[in-house]
Amino acid sequence: MQKRLFIKTYGCQMNVYDSARMAELVAPLGYAPAETPHGADLVILNTCHIREKAAEKVFSELGEIRRLKDAKERAGERMLVAVAGCVAQAEGEEIMRRAPFVDMVFGPQTYHRLPELVARAARGGGGVLDTSFPAEPKFDHLPATTPAPGVAALLSIQEGCDKFCTFCVVPYTRGAEFSRPAAQVIAEAERLVAAGAREITLLGQNVNAYHGTAREGGEWGLGDLLRALARLPGLERLRYTTSHPRDVDDELIAAHRDIVQVMPFLHLPVQSGSDRILAAMNRRHTADDYRRTVRKLRQARPDLALSSDFIVGYPGESDLDFRATLDLVVEIGFAQSFSFKYSPRPGTPAASEKQLPDAVKAERLAELQALLQQQQRAFNAAAIGTAMPVLFEKPGRHKGQLVGRSPYLQPIHADAPPEMIGEIVSVNIVGVTSNSLSGIVAGLDEAAQ
Ligand code: 5AD
Ligand code: SF4
Repeated sequence: MQKRLFIKTYGCQMNVYDSARMAELVAPLGYAPAETPHGADLVILNTCHIREKAAEKVFSELGEIRRLKDAKERAGERMLVAVAGCVAQAEGEEIMRRAPFVDMVFGPQTYHRLPELVARAARGGGGVLDTSFPAEPKFDHLPATTPAPGVAALLSIQEGCDKFCTFCVVPYTRGAEFSRPAAQVIAEAERLVAAGAREITLLGQNVNAYHGTAREGGEWGLGDLLRALARLPGLERLRYTTSHPRDVDDELIAAHRDIVQVMPFLHLPVQSGSDRILAAMNRRHTADDYRRTVRKLRQARPDLALSSDFIVGYPGESDLDFRATLDLVVEIGFAQSFSFKYSPRPGTPAASEKQLPDAVKAERLAELQALLQQQQRAFNAAAIGTAMPVLFEKPGRHKGQLVGRSPYLQPIHADAPPEMIGEIVSVNIVGVTSNSLSGIVAGLDEAAQ
């Protein structure tokens, strides 16, 4: 009998990838994806612990799920509830204690055991907690199926982090850095392309620290891997995220120069423009290191655009430190960015430092975001009047419309026939809304007249 699976995914693209793999793992047990948790037979919350009040959000969501579970029980049926991801990893025992109706709690490193966990939970006998860091890499145990990845697919190549930035929980929740062997990555990419993917985004918490076993022995860095993937017929676009400035090596820069499939858009978080704060954060790079790296990347690929993450209000950040961040933003110019107020994560070094008042953080964040938004708007506006290669991904909101992405990840709407899904088409950009562009497929405008 068909059972219904609802997965709610929080946080980063790694979680989006993991959720898709979890759905594949339980498909053989008869679970098919559902749009809502109402009446679902299995509900998985794939959680994120990176910022603010993550655990509280999960507990409040669980309150909702509990009502649905009770309702199903009254109807004589069972709903299995699982909490996965980084909150599960960090606060597994607390979840089991405070929400005893939860059947399974497991971290990012053990979800390959999901079929076994589901079977155990279905047999009853109380909740199952699995937040170990197993010796066997989970990737060796994931199914090799990839039913419908879509035109733009995600591929996890690296996990965990050994950098230990003082604000970040990732080294604790995702564990030590691990790179998948190159052959395994290439095989997965081949399957994605065969299933219709035209673009692949390589994922990792610290993706450019990639150092996977090469097919011929030895190790490959990310630059080598990109070169190999670019040889796959049908794979038109390559991206990777998230990078650390320290790990941008010459091979990677050369990959940006030489490989047309590598898109000229790079998410390279700098976090702060102040050397004092960067040192306190244990980022292992200065603002000038970042400037130099960006300069080299732009020399290699003059049309490169950048995005970044920023944290404001890190413990000890003075007004001068914050000004240094604004200066760096003005100097580099970002096409897009994410910025956050520093939020203490339990167990990380910075959490025990003296905290700045929230009002200061809020004020700085507003100022930084105004600047970043201005840069983003200017970047988008500069596209008007140009032609951009757009990879169409899916139907748009309006009839006859498709949505795709520019090389810079800007969403682009244009009237186009559904056959163009999966194709890269030249689009004349005519308009810009807050976060997307609109355009006319080159050739179609004359044809319509
Ligand atoms: N507080 C605020 N922002 C954080 N990030 C990570 N940890 C914290 C924290 N404790 C941000 C960083 C990182 C992004 C994914 O989330 O900017 O690059
Ligand atoms: Fe966290 Fe990224 Fe620093 Fe690793 S490099 S500790 S994932 S912010």
